[in-house]
Amino acid sequence: MNRALKEHLRKRKTEVETWLERIVPNTDQVPDTLLKSVKYSLFARGKRIRPVLALEAAEIACENHLVAMPVACGIEMIHTYSLIHDDLPAMDDDDLRRGKPTNHKVFGEAMAILAGDALLTLAFEVMSKMENYPPSVKPSSILNAVNLVAEAAGWCGMVGGQVVDIEMEGAQPAPEIADEIHLNKTAKMIQVSLKAGAVVADAPEEMVEILGQYGLLLGLTFQVVDDILGAVGDQESLGKPVGKDIQRGKVTYPSVWGVEGSRRKAQDLTEKAMTVIEPLGEKAERLRLLATMLLERVS
Ligand code: IPE
Ligand code: IPE
Ligand code: MG
Ligand code: MG
Repeated sequence: MNRALKEHLRKRKTEVETWLERIVPNTDQVPDTLLKSVKYSLFARGKRIRPVLALEAAEIACENHLVAMPVACGIEMIHTYSLIHDDLPAMDDDDLRRGKPTNHKVFGEAMAILAGDALLTLAFEVMSKMENYPPSVKPSSILNAVNLVAEAAGWCGMVGGQVVDIEMEGAQPAPEIADEIHLNKTAKMIQVSLKAGAVVADAPEEMVEILGQYGLLLGLTFQVVDDILGAVGDQESLGKPVGKDIQRGKVTYPSVWGVEGSRRKAQDLTEKAMTVIEPLGEKAERLRLLATMLLERVS
């Protein structure tokens, strides 16, 4: 992997984590168990890919990645809530997440549900608070960004995708179903990370559009890669179980296209992502490297 990129991502990840620590402080205003449960999942071994993409988009748009920090952290909180709920017995029933026992295994199902609820609402509190942004950021841009995140996370986005993922358990694997699931449960949240980051940075509409197209393709690739690793990856380095999708009869890319076919699909999607960001030129170099790095996870 590109060394400079790796170092850059490590730095950005640390910045995000420092910010998250600041907005989720130790406080006696929150019941102790809830605070512990939220922190347990939020400060585990997450890759922080979504917040890093939001910061990247802001840097491309206005050369100051920090304008997107509240949105970046809000998105990571929503993502973390979605993982806590995704692992519940009523959903994927998993025991391992981010290298540790899943939230409900430690705190119980009721607390895991409530920790998810708390993270989701706190995300909107953090993203909508003007004082969290530098004064240069326009309130109307914040409102637009928050609205985009709500759409991507909600019933026309991630939540809807999760519903289809669950309802299609045991169904005959079909390409259209796999595409619909990937688009909604994963790609829209990755897409909105880039779009919302660009919107708070006051990017011109065409740039938001290009970053959105790239984000959707990267997001689809991300879920194809996750499906491949979920089938043939290494549990230790993934920090989550391997082989569970087949066990639960999930419609995944490997179930439709096989592992090799899925690798080729991931390559095609990555090539398309590279093409759509061409108009951004040199500014988008890190996004190109990121797309390559994602593909390297399964090559
Ligand atoms: C896992 O997401 C769930 C998917 C949408 C594929 P990540 O692979 O980004 O998980 P963390 O945040 O690094 O734990
Ligand atoms: C998770 O999808 C997607 C969301 C949490 C929205 P999966 O169920 O396929 O992901 P893992 O394998 O549990 O991380
Ligand atoms: Mg799931
Ligand atoms: Mg799952």
